[in-house]
Amino acid sequence: MRVVVIGSGYVGLVAAACFAEAGNSVLGVDVAAAKVEQLRKGEVPIFEPGLDDIFKRHLASGSLTFSSDLKDGIAEADAAFICVGTPQSEDGSADLRFVLQVAEEIGAALTLRPKNANPLIIVDKSTVPVGTAARVSALIGGTGTDRAFEVVSNPEFLREGSAIQDFLKPDRVVLGCTTDFAESVMKSLYAPFLSLSGGKWFRMDPASAELTKYAANAMLALRISFINEIAGLCESIGADVEQVKVAIGADHRIGPAFLNPGPGFGGSCFPKDLQALLKTGREHGRPLMALSATVEANRHQKQVLASKIRKYYDVVGGVPAPLAGHHFALWGLAFKAHTDDIRESMSLELIDSLLSLGATITVHDFEAMPAVKAKIGDRVTYATDAMACCEGADALLIATEWPQYKAADLNVVAQKLKAKVMFDGRNLFLPEAMRAAGWVYHSIGRRSVG
Ligand SMILES: NC(=O)c1ccc[n+]([C@@H]2O[C@H](COP(=O)([O-])OP(=O)(O)OC[C@H]3O[C@@H](n4cnc5c(N)ncnc54)[C@H](O)[C@@H]3O)[C@@H](O)[C@H]2O)c1
Repeated sequence: MRVVVIGSGYVGLVAAACFAEAGNSVLGVDVAAAKVEQLRKGEVPIFEPGLDDIFKRHLASGSLTFSSDLKDGIAEADAAFICVGTPQSEDGSADLRFVLQVAEEIGAALTLRPKNANPLIIVDKSTVPVGTAARVSALIGGTGTDRAFEVVSNPEFLREGSAIQDFLKPDRVVLGCTTDFAESVMKSLYAPFLSLSGGKWFRMDPASAELTKYAANAMLALRISFINEIAGLCESIGADVEQVKVAIGADHRIGPAFLNPGPGFGGSCFPKDLQALLKTGREHGRPLMALSATVEANRHQKQVLASKIRKYYDVVGGVPAPLAGHHFALWGLAFKAHTDDIRESMSLELIDSLLSLGATITVHDFEAMPAVKAKIGDRVTYATDAMACCEGADALLIATEWPQYKAADLNVVAQKLKAKVMFDGRNLFLPEAMRAAGWVYHSIGRRSVG
């Protein structure tokens, strides 16, 4: 089949490469001309494990091409996937500017299709509020086009860091559509992936498909905020959240996933998608109270590491620069491991808090340092490696769960630091082992040692 994928970011690039991997001819489109140039040269602008290999193979074979003009592909396409960003607007709702702009462009390009061509399947893959498929359809229909098309909703559930595996082997594919023809086109595109994974196929109406994406993200975020609150309670009553979480996760009604306590969730999806869903609830007179509490709990959680640090150094609020003279090593800048994405990363909030108290910071991350450098420049120092990051610091702070940090030789870390003090936002180490090795060790939802 011939596929156009509009937007070459984390979702669009992965979708384009994976559809090419399944034997389709794919045109990737992006409005950013510099990005298109980079892609044409074979350079992948993001870090996503496994993407580089698939991308380069299909670029070389010619089954994956790139353009900054979607007209280049619409004439002969079977399906056009809209994968552009839907950032948060000031009122919390999803900003549909880019989606609607692409819809207009597709509408204008439809005239390039032969009059007797099959309907073009226009796929909303971006995360968009309920009613967007209908809105996109009305917008394109409003151009007065006489070429056939159908707009469907096909939300994406991939996770950054394992996006290729998630796309190639999906748990499920959700399709909101109204005709059997649209379903048959989409089924052909996804059949190779579903036969590999045994994943489920859900056809439903577009509004239900659109809501499914938000409801899934809300559920996952709710679990994280829940376990973070239980972690806080554990600290107060002297319990250990790591023991509690495995025991509750063993209940098949609950399951173990997304029960890891940490420094609060960030990323490009949860924060904005939760706000958008809250807005949808308000608009329909259905305030989503459990979701409001999830957001509030996360706002609090993102301050937890900073407040543990303040407490340890006995920093009283209101005193100017009470951490002046203190220097920290920070491991982890990406919002989670295996990605270079720093959107809504809790590390950036931690950096802001500590700098405002007068501290200085040297940071390290395996993939996200260029993005942080581009965002905050020389407000922090960038280390060449994880060990160099610790040189002369008063304490080590851990914000991202890169496995390499967990595997680090703590004897070497201790030699580099001024004091054996660690604030671990990801519970990478065992408190008892840390105590035995003479560390002052603070983590999430467990007794502090030292
Ligand atoms: N990142 C994720 O993990 C993830 C997972 C599931 C769903 N989503 C959703 O998918 C959508 C895309 O997310 P992303 O993380 O890939 O975004 P992104 O910011 O990484 O990429 C978006 C791309 O769209 C391009 N673009 C913007 N306007 C355009 C236009 N008019 N024509 C062509 N290209 C245009 C941008 O230049 C950019 O390269 C969002 O709605 C997001 O919520 C993201």
